Amino acid sequence: MARMTLSRYLIEEQRQKGVITADLKLLVEVVSRACKAISIAIGKGGLGGVLGEAGSENVQGEAQKKLDVVSNEILLEANEWGGHLAAMASEEMDLPHTIPNRYPQGEYLLLFDPLDGSSNIDVNVSVGTIFSVLKCPEGADLSTPEAAEQAFLQPGTTQVAAGYAVYGPTTLLVLTVGDGVVVFTLDREMGAFVLTQENVRIPEDTKEFAINMSNQRYWEAPVQRYVDELLQGKEGPRGKDFNMRWVASMVADVHRIMTRGGLFMYPLDAKTRDKGGKLRLMYEANPMAFLVEQAGGAATTGRERILDLQPQKLHQRVPVILGSKNEVERVTAYHA
Ligand code: AHG
Ligand code: MN
Ligand code: MN
Repeated sequence: MARMTLSRYLIEEQRQKGVITADLKLLVEVVSRACKAISIAIGKGGLGGVLGEAGSENVQGEAQKKLDVVSNEILLEANEWGGHLAAMASEEMDLPHTIPNRYPQGEYLLLFDPLDGSSNIDVNVSVGTIFSVLKCPEGADLSTPEAAEQAFLQPGTTQVAAGYAVYGPTTLLVLTVGDGVVVFTLDREMGAFVLTQENVRIPEDTKEFAINMSNQRYWEAPVQRYVDELLQGKEGPRGKDFNMRWVASMVADVHRIMTRGGLFMYPLDAKTRDKGGKLRLMYEANPMAFLVEQAGGAATTGRERILDLQPQKLHQRVPVILGSKNEVERVTAYHA
C-alpha cells in the first residue's frame, strides 16, 4: 500500500468525504510544517543554543524558556501570510495576534500552546505543541487585539480541528477534524508526516492513572477518595492494582492514554482554586478533550463536560480529568 502522507489524508478528507474545506486543509498543513520546524529546533538542543531561560515572563506570570519563545514565533510566522486565518492566540501572548492588513484574512481562528511541558526541555524529556481551530464568528470585530479576544470565546464543541505534536523519540502529529483520531509519524529523511495509525480508540477501562501526587494535600474530597481507592489496589474496593505515571508534559501523558488507555487528572485543588485550575481551557483542555472524545474517551472538570464550558476569557484555567471513559465517569460521579 502506498504511504499515506498528511497531505494526501487531508485531500481525501476534503475531496472524498467533504469533511474539511480547502482552507482548513491549508491550515493543518501549515501548522504541521511549523511543528516540523519546532521539532528541528528542539532536536538541536545544546548544539543550537536553544536551551535555558528566555529571561522573560508570559501573561500568566510563568518564566519563559527560550524554546517557548522560539516555538511561538515559528507558529506565528508560518500562519500569518497564508490567508486561512482571521486571528491567532497563544499561551505565550497576552492578546490575540490579528492578521496584518497586507495579507488576506481567512475564516479560521487558531489557538496554540506552542511548547507544552517546557519544564522538561532542559532534561531531554518529551514535550509537544497543542492546537485548536475555531471558525471566526460572522461579523466579529478584529479591529484591535483587545476586541478580537471576544471572537475566540466559544465552547470547545465548536472546534473544527484539534491536534498535538509530540517531540519524543519520534515526532508525531495526532489530529482530529471531527472524523476520528489519526496519528502521523515524521519521516525525518523525507520531511513528511506519514499516517501510522487510524481510528485511535482509548480502552474504556484501565489500570493506569496520572496525577501529580505532590499536590495530594490540596485535593478536594472526591479526588482524595478516588485516588485512595486506586492505591489500595487488589485489597481495596477496586479489587485490582493500579500503576501510576506522570511525565509532566500533558502531551506525553495524553499520548500514552491515546495509545494504551489511562486516566489523567489535574483536578481543582486548594493551591489553584483562585485561578480556576492549572491547565488552560482554550489551548490545552479543549483540544485534548476534543481528541479524547473522538477516540471514545471522556473529559470533564469533575463537574461538567469540558467541551460544554462557555469560556469567559482567553487564558482561563480549568480542572481536567480525561481518558478512559469508565474511570472518568467514576471520578465525575464522586463529585456529584
Ligand atoms: P506548559 O509547559 O505549557 O506551561 O504546560 C505544563 C503543564 C502540563 O503540560 C503538565 O501536565 C503540567 O503543566 C505539569 O504540572 P506540574 O509541574 O504541576 O506537575
Ligand atoms: Mn501546556
Ligand atoms: Mn506551553
